[in-house]
Amino acid sequence: DKGLRVADKGYLNTAVLRSEITFIDGEAGILRYRGYPIEQLALKSSHLESAYLLVYGSLPTQNQRKTFETEVMHHSVVHADAAQFFRSFRYDAHPMAILTSAFAYLGSYYSEANPSLKGQTLFTKGTPESLAIMDKQIYRLIGKATTLAAMAYRVRQGREFVIPPTGLSYTASFLYQMDYHGQTNYQPNPVLAKALDILFLLHADHELNASCTTVLQTGSSLVDPFSAIAAGCASLYGPLHGGANEAVIRMLISIESPKNVPAFLEAVKKREKVLSGFGHRVYKTSDPRSFIVRKTADEVFKITGKDELLETAMALHEAAMKDEYFIKRRLAPNVDFCGLIYRAMGFPLDFFPVLFAVPRVVGWLAHWRQMMLQEGGVKIWRPRQMYVGAGQRDYVPVEERE
Ligand code: SDX
Repeated sequence: DKGLRVADKGYLNTAVLRSEITFIDGEAGILRYRGYPIEQLALKSSHLESAYLLVYGSLPTQNQRKTFETEVMHHSVVHADAAQFFRSFRYDAHPMAILTSAFAYLGSYYSEANPSLKGQTLFTKGTPESLAIMDKQIYRLIGKATTLAAMAYRVRQGREFVIPPTGLSYTASFLYQMDYHGQTNYQPNPVLAKALDILFLLHADHELNASCTTVLQTGSSLVDPFSAIAAGCASLYGPLHGGANEAVIRMLISIESPKNVPAFLEAVKKREKVLSGFGHRVYKTSDPRSFIVRKTADEVFKITGKDELLETAMALHEAAMKDEYFIKRRLAPNVDFCGLIYRAMGFPLDFFPVLFAVPRVVGWLAHWRQMMLQEGGVKIWRPRQMYVGAGQRDYVPVEERE
């Protein structure tokens, strides 16, 4: 088999490319976007500024930041026809099913985003005009991600859609589209808008997680970036990945109170239950984002009041951290306890993965752009397998089969 090596299950310990975007050290609990520590960015930057950093590789100058933010906000409006697309879903459709479909639907508006169908490998050229067309798709996807999410939220409530307002920041505009229903001079709460912006920033990228790998696997066939992002969104939907923030809350609700934590952990050890919000393929000591989530939660709870699940969450965290079974498996809390903040902010439970997908569009696009512009052009991702099935055998007519 020409020296094929079978990667460990789930790509464990397998690097499939070189990247300059995000650095993670799972032992030291380090996360950096283009070399900048996540702790500094969460404190000093914004989601949209960090988006520029992730996609283009450097912190923007004032002009670059203004142009980028103006373009993204300009492209946050969605074609009016999209209303009928959203209204085609049942009232109880999961918003991640709606969002995943919406990204692919959106691609149908922009044929220039699918150049390879015309036999052009436009995005791999790196010429000023091809870069300008690539940038426009990036502005559209980042800008419209919030609008699509807000439409997925409102369509289930039977509410009219809200045109993105002008003059608000990216995240405040999103909150406005979610919650505006005729109040005069409505403005989203600035503390909550800031807290959500920090959470967006924390979720912007995480190197080759399952959904980012899916975007690159799909994008390697040179399909348009909208379709590749839709594929990534589908992967993020799963409870082992982005769906975990919803699963954490369902888990805490099922535990009900701190007194049930020991029994729950016993069930986890017997693999009858999953301890959502804990464990990570890379972080084996701590997920650096979880500390920032904790601090952000304190700010939010000052406005919203503590979430009654917090006590159970803390009891669970404390018990798991002292339990040999979890210590041996090096399972620390990951980023998905942010669901407690989303719940305190009033988002519906099944909307939590959408709050992960919206900011992660940035990381998916940063890696997609990096792949399009890589040295030597794009190679389609086509791994091999080690065949361990039956040897050659002849067909047997059905009447002779026992
Ligand atoms: C995200 O990849 C990323 O970067 C993802 C993410 C991102 O930003 O993109 O960080 C976002 O998805 C965070 C993770 C959210 N998922 C959850 O919280 C769901 C619960 N966590 C697990 O399902 C699990 O920890 C994974 C899926 C996150 C990681 O799975 P792995 O890599 O297969 O886990 P592992 O191989 O390191 O596990 C080692 C051992 C195994 O036990 P043994 O089979 O060796 O006896 O720990 C066990 C696992 O079964 N284990 C758990 C567990 N997580 C791992 N046991 C109980 N509860 C858990 N949560």
